[in-house]
Amino acid sequence: MCYAIPGKVKQILDRKVIVDYFGEERKAHNEIADLHIGDYIYAQGGFVIKKVPPSEAEEILSTWKEMFFELQQIDVRLSQVGLEKVRLDKKISRILDRATQGFPPSKDEMKYLFYCNDNSQLDIIFKTANFLRQKYHKNACCVHGILEISNYCKQECLYCGISKNNKHVKRYRMRGNEIVDAAYEAIEKYGFKALVLQSGEDTAYSIEELVEVIGEIKRRAPVLIFISFGEVGIEGLQKLYDAGARGLLLRFETSNPELYKKTHPGCNLETRLLHIRKAYEMGYLILTGGLIGLPDQTLDDVIDDIYLAKELHAEMYSFGPFIPHPDTPLGHIEPIIELDMLKILAGARLIDPENGKVLITTAFETLSPNARRKGLLSGGSSVMLNVTPISYREKYDIYPNRAYRSEVIQNQIDETIDLLRSLGRAPTDLGIK
Ligand code: 5AD
Repeated sequence: MCYAIPGKVKQILDRKVIVDYFGEERKAHNEIADLHIGDYIYAQGGFVIKKVPPSEAEEILSTWKEMFFELQQIDVRLSQVGLEKVRLDKKISRILDRATQGFPPSKDEMKYLFYCNDNSQLDIIFKTANFLRQKYHKNACCVHGILEISNYCKQECLYCGISKNNKHVKRYRMRGNEIVDAAYEAIEKYGFKALVLQSGEDTAYSIEELVEVIGEIKRRAPVLIFISFGEVGIEGLQKLYDAGARGLLLRFETSNPELYKKTHPGCNLETRLLHIRKAYEMGYLILTGGLIGLPDQTLDDVIDDIYLAKELHAEMYSFGPFIPHPDTPLGHIEPIIELDMLKILAGARLIDPENGKVLITTAFETLSPNARRKGLLSGGSSVMLNVTPISYREKYDIYPNRAYRSEVIQNQIDETIDLLRSLGRAPTDLGIK
């Protein structure tokens, strides 16, 4: 199974190419020197990842073609809003109407939507988000892999199970060749086209070592690499970009500077945001968002979070519930409920219908058993599968009982493909429009 469909290059415009997928045209950035019109390629996150030999591409396309249109039909059917049975609140109705006409809700309007606690009204809000997802993204669902390379961390974030203050956690650090081998396996054996490399803020890796690892992965196999090593410094970001990383997963965690300070001793929001902004200027795809349910976080904070992610040019919105870890200072705090998380996914979709992918996070899946299905039907368009070797994965204990902490990669893939098929989604990333 592959996680992208081959496309055919139709036009080359400097470093952008126009790619055809069953009659749909998308743009992608190209960094491959000898690319020609008529070549088949894989693209991820709007980047051309590799050329595909024509015979291989044509074979894959012929098996996909029928299924692709079938899936699209299922998706279209599931994304109808179906207003007939509900007497929608007038104000909600107006907000949603305007959102579908291309006028995203204001913060006050978003707050009004979030105040809603009536299930049938909420259902329409979620369905409208799903309608918008379908309208702009069709049935594409992004499936990335995440490889957690080390759980050492110099930071003391109050909520996090791998904070340096947690003396109970068993630490691990993958060596360079282990990282490259695990990434290679995810790409070549399991077909991932995009990988996130993540760790705590582990000072034992130098930027030069990480540069080496990224370079080696890219030399061995074609892939879109996202880095998620925390705050590596602006210079570090540039060096990692030059080594071939093209995405940054760095949450700002909360848009409230005071709350940020309280929950991240010794750190500040400004530095965090500077990393994200500079990374965007360098050309990184930005995956960002926050933690929902921190103590003293208000509804206004949460709404500000969603708009901040948009302002930061989120390619992907990554919002997850805070889950209490018993060995942290916030171990006693109750997490939010499923509906609140669905509101946030839908909210992100409503304000950014066209550009953003909306991730169903593992934390949400840990909080609630049907999160993935419900999230994908409420504006979500993306999932991440964990490709960390299992012996390490269990130690990446940012919060307890993480979903998929002991599930082999193939099972995660099979489960994901089954779910996506039932929803009419194709595990593909057709790139930017
Ligand atoms: N619950 C949920 N998410 C958490 N993270 C860290 N600790 C927790 C927790 N207790 C998230 C942070 C970080 C990401 C890697 O993990 O948001 O950005």
